[in-house]
Amino acid sequence: MSQRLKLELKPLDAVTGQDLVVLVADGLAAPGSARDLLGEAGEELLARAVSVERFKGKALGGLTALAPQQAPYQRLIAVGVGPLADRDTLDFAKLGGAIAGRLAPGRSADIVLALPDAELSAEQAAEIALGMKLRAYAFDRYKTKSKEPDEAEPIGVTLRFADPAALKKALKAREAVANGVMLARDLVNEPPNILFPEEFAERAAKLAKLGVEVEILDEKQLRKIGMRALLAVGQGSRRESRVVVMRWNGGKGSEAPVAFIGKGVTFDTGGISIKPGGGMEDMKGDMAGAACVTGLMHALAARKAKVNAIGVIGLVENMPDGNAQRPGDIVTSLSGQTIEIINTDAEGRLVLADVLWYTQDRFKPKFMINLATLTGAILVALGHENAGLFSNDDALCERLGAAGQATGETVWRMPLGKAYDKMIDSKFADMKNSAGRYGGSITAAQFLQRHVNDTPWAHLDIAGTGMNSPNSETNRSWGSGWGVRLLDRLVRDHYER
Ligand code: BES
Ligand code: MN
Ligand code: ZN
Repeated sequence: MSQRLKLELKPLDAVTGQDLVVLVADGLAAPGSARDLLGEAGEELLARAVSVERFKGKALGGLTALAPQQAPYQRLIAVGVGPLADRDTLDFAKLGGAIAGRLAPGRSADIVLALPDAELSAEQAAEIALGMKLRAYAFDRYKTKSKEPDEAEPIGVTLRFADPAALKKALKAREAVANGVMLARDLVNEPPNILFPEEFAERAAKLAKLGVEVEILDEKQLRKIGMRALLAVGQGSRRESRVVVMRWNGGKGSEAPVAFIGKGVTFDTGGISIKPGGGMEDMKGDMAGAACVTGLMHALAARKAKVNAIGVIGLVENMPDGNAQRPGDIVTSLSGQTIEIINTDAEGRLVLADVLWYTQDRFKPKFMINLATLTGAILVALGHENAGLFSNDDALCERLGAAGQATGETVWRMPLGKAYDKMIDSKFADMKNSAGRYGGSITAAQFLQRHVNDTPWAHLDIAGTGMNSPNSETNRSWGSGWGVRLLDRLVRDHYER
């Protein structure tokens, strides 16, 4: 991982950097506090640059102008916040992303965190900083030769805000979340020869430093517990399977925890039902659900969230091999139900079936939310814009929907029902693991639901959002870390005492 921004917080009293960044509104008012820093020359420059570039302060738009020699900075960067009236809908993290996108490596910049008209709260300023950090993330661990020599150089950023102490406080929590997102991105981006189940478990174990209790279950323990569906997926791999339980106890001792469960297939070849070769390398990201859960646990612990939270991830590699499971095999899951394997490429649901059952049985959580790159079909249905949401609980859906709107990590509810459930009945066992193409995301969710009792539960199919999503203001990385901000927000809004 590389995070090129080096952030410093200072009051709005001077300009010390090479670049000066100011926020301008539609119609082009710069904030009074920025005007002092701009100086007369700067104001004139801004006015001229704006007329030449036809930039009017549209939200997330901007311009970069070379400053006159007498100015105390070398470049002036203006970033738009849009119409003055629409301030409620302005996404401050996106704005931070747009700002960071205009900075250059090896340079220093002063960002004036002040709006042209209204007050900018410390929370909003911190959200801008979060967006900047997320935008500046790059996974370049395996690049031994960078194309441009200065690409890796840091950017020294001074955040200029009226009340640096208040910003410092607000930023602490946002930084915890940014680091959680970046941890998730790192895990998704890592190649599958490096990040296999045991290595993933070791990385999760590092959360102990933040006060997370981490328990790693090995194959012997998993067999004893009875997670035979999960083990069946991993049996064709030379790499051993693992389940990791992470516990953050920030709430009252007696309070039931909230639980997050992740699919962690560190590589999905499809197994004996092998996938076609084209694009198979993307299946290193088939652990994005587990990565999100790990990143979320990091965020909650690092910001000392007042909640009891459990993260459970099922880590396996799905490989074809002499010992791999076959189509036609029948396995018994932890729930005691039997499953006919129709397609070894429908492996994620086998992993989750055991982990869901285990989590509800052992922890009696308030709710369970699982995340999984579960089906290609969800990409067909929703593209990269929304995660598929399947749930047995309307209230939980409503809260997830609101947290999605607040963070930009949006979800779209999909149906569940008897008729879909019937589609996974099997001729030989209690159920089958695949019902073919039609309604593929829904039948996968029905399979999961057969392993959930009446615990409020939501399944997020993140095959379209967790990896390979289009560039956004806050993300340029293949692995997006999707879901960390969403679930952190859900916890923050509803489950902290
Ligand atoms: N990991 C895949 C789903 C996936 C596809 C994730 C594309 C990300 C991008 C999953 O294990 C899978 O192979 N699902 C099958 C299910 C089918 C065999 C019933 C699918 O979607 O084709
Ligand atoms: Mn698969
Ligand atoms: Zn998979």
